[in-house]
Amino acid sequence: MSAAASAPATIANLGPGFDIAGMAIEGYRDLVEISLRDDDVVEVQVEGREADRVDDTPRGNSAAVAASHVLRRAGVRKGFNLKLVKNVPVGVGLGSSGASSAAGAYAANLLIGRRLGMRELVLCAAEGERAACGSPHLDNVAPSLYGGFTIILDIEGPEILHVKPMPGFEVIVATPHVSLPKNKTEYARSLLPREVPMETLVRQQASVARLIASILKGDLEQFGKAVSMDHVVEPARAGMIPGFREVKKRALENGALGLSISGAGPSIFAITRPQDAEKVAKAIKEAFEEKGVKTSITRTTPSTTGARPEPTNP
Ligand code: HSE
Repeated sequence: MSAAASAPATIANLGPGFDIAGMAIEGYRDLVEISLRDDDVVEVQVEGREADRVDDTPRGNSAAVAASHVLRRAGVRKGFNLKLVKNVPVGVGLGSSGASSAAGAYAANLLIGRRLGMRELVLCAAEGERAACGSPHLDNVAPSLYGGFTIILDIEGPEILHVKPMPGFEVIVATPHVSLPKNKTEYARSLLPREVPMETLVRQQASVARLIASILKGDLEQFGKAVSMDHVVEPARAGMIPGFREVKKRALENGALGLSISGAGPSIFAITRPQDAEKVAKAIKEAFEEKGVKTSITRTTPSTTGARPEPTNP
């Protein structure tokens, strides 16, 4: 018997919501198929357009680590065969390991008759994140599992607020072609300040309040504004992305409601009304090109569907 599930790419942080806010997006989904074995061996096979860029060992593959945690937590002491179809671009800030972890955890739970609840799946998927990038942050795995917006209210619990995105906006993702250290997330986290002045903390709290209030009220303009108002993480990481400040300025001048770095970068994302999307995408591309940076642009929308069951191959 086998089970299969897919889970979407995500944008973590959403500006000021470092490690607590995230949004699932359409366009890329990782797919995991899993079946139990009679012995305790774990076999991992990776396929798909990003397969070459993913660890396929049982302890290094985030889908397999997440699935192992689900089985262990449910008391199932068996090995498994896991196939990951890797579609989410790796290492660009779109929650690649989070999507694999979410799909792995969800598929494993389907296989055992949904014995675990969603919050437990978040914890198991976070272990997949830890295996892939060194820290078990929840802001990619939560939206990948739930879909829509998620806000982490308590990390240990975990307690997660899940909110359906307001209608009427597009997300432009721009991925600059820059070379970064191999363990990019660890590197991007090493750029962050160890301490923040009290004055900055107060400004940042106001931005986080704006972000969460806008999400709960479904206020698109305020959401865009909040995304642009990260006073701590974005300034520390902006140097990873050549021309970031100019690109942001030009996107906002051309109608973007907000722009920030997607997760640990180097992709950036802009929030726009659909009628402005083309103009904003063009402005971003041109601003990067003027700095001599090639960029891939994707126009997408939030995904209200998180991890979901998929048909298994007979
Ligand atoms: N919140 C994390 C970070 C996301 O910005 O480092 C990384 O995937």
